Amino acid sequence: MGADPVEFRGLSEAVVDAERRFAAANPLSHARHLRARKVLPGGHSRQTLYYAPFPVTFVSGKDAVLTDLDGHKYLNLVGDYAAGVLGHTCEPVQRAAREVLAGGLSLGGVNSKEVELAEVISARIPSIQQIRFCNSGSEACLFSVQLARHATARPKIMVFKGCYHGAFLIYGNTDPALSIPLEVVKATYNEVEGTRRSLRSNPESIGAVIVEPMMGAAGAIPASRAFLGMLREETRRIGALLIFDEVMTSRLSPGGLQGFYGLTPDITTLGKFWGGGFPFGAYGGSREVMRYLDLGGGGTLSQGGTFNANIVTMAAGIVATRDVYTPQTCTELNALGDRLRERLNNLGRKFRVGFQATGMGGIMNTHWHNRPISNPEHVEPVNSAPRRLFQLEMMLQGYYVAQRGTFALSLPVSAGDLDGFVEATEQFITQYRDLLLPTEESSAHLGSAATKS
Ligand SMILES: Cc1ncc(COP(=O)(O)O)c(C=O)c1O
Repeated sequence: MGADPVEFRGLSEAVVDAERRFAAANPLSHARHLRARKVLPGGHSRQTLYYAPFPVTFVSGKDAVLTDLDGHKYLNLVGDYAAGVLGHTCEPVQRAAREVLAGGLSLGGVNSKEVELAEVISARIPSIQQIRFCNSGSEACLFSVQLARHATARPKIMVFKGCYHGAFLIYGNTDPALSIPLEVVKATYNEVEGTRRSLRSNPESIGAVIVEPMMGAAGAIPASRAFLGMLREETRRIGALLIFDEVMTSRLSPGGLQGFYGLTPDITTLGKFWGGGFPFGAYGGSREVMRYLDLGGGGTLSQGGTFNANIVTMAAGIVATRDVYTPQTCTELNALGDRLRERLNNLGRKFRVGFQATGMGGIMNTHWHNRPISNPEHVEPVNSAPRRLFQLEMMLQGYYVAQRGTFALSLPVSAGDLDGFVEATEQFITQYRDLLLPTEESSAHLGSAATKS
């Protein structure tokens, strides 16, 4: 077998057939999509959620189960791209939100909850001595980069090819027009010596290096400890600030991945689950760095944001992180993820097909080839034929999975649920084995890497 055009055509035909069955099974979602396209570009509000032929519309969620407009139920394995770690109906968090709602909205002053959430986060992630809340991970990343450039009085930042630091900081082979036009030095993720050289050749102009300790949207690609350690050492040496974007990875270990690796960044960005399911973003670091935001204390950066530290997010976030996603729960969920990844990888080996799952703990990404993946160039496009086919077939079986292959487990997902999913994956591989490529030759037909958003 190999990149035989006949086999590739077979896969494309299988996708067309799966799309036809999917559309037939979802007439109400289809109608909603057509209606939405008239008033929403593409019929949605977030590119990540779109997939062909149209995304199903969800109407409710309970624990880890979603219900769509046509009445189908799905085990949710996407976990809102890492934000939904608590599942859909975490009663203590919902109660906390209801309680603050009863106290009135938009009070327009500092509130009683923000200090408490700041204390909880600071205790969990000691490098965050002070924190500033905003409303999304995208804002947090942009603010942190601007803070670092201001603090160092240097114009450039270093980023890694294919990285995703939110809607304004995306750097692939071509940079999307929505990305902020900053002066960037691009390096290759996990490439230790090349990156070191690049930093050393820009010793006075790079103000910050922003890096995910595991690349999430790009395909759940863990960093090596040596790579992150080099970044810590070299940024100190040239006087640049090291920003860990832990918007996605902070759920992977009780103190974030920085705790796992034993590294202390200058600034950390957070998002997703820390708000208990409500819009959340934050960035924090040492007092020395954060003092620039303290105008009363001589700082020079004035940062606004009407809904920063909104009371509902703060109240939900306190309960979510202090009481529900405790260090122990975090460790258990990630152990469940490690076991799932191992079982998926065993399937690739057992059937000798190009299939693997990368990632850490409860966040992973499936790929339809078995070559080593250490940077986004090794990842097939988000809409490759095997990805599309797998997503549609799994959805038809009642498993909500992302086309790009992202998995993020949530607390209500049980080991039994995952047994069912592994079985369904095995059936998929058995059914389509002849159209998938064998282990030795398994990436030529997948095309070149694409940047995710
Ligand atoms: C690593 C990383 N940074 C930043 C963001 C942006 O966060 P948000 O979607 O809350 O703006 C994301 C979102 O997926 C992310 O994964």
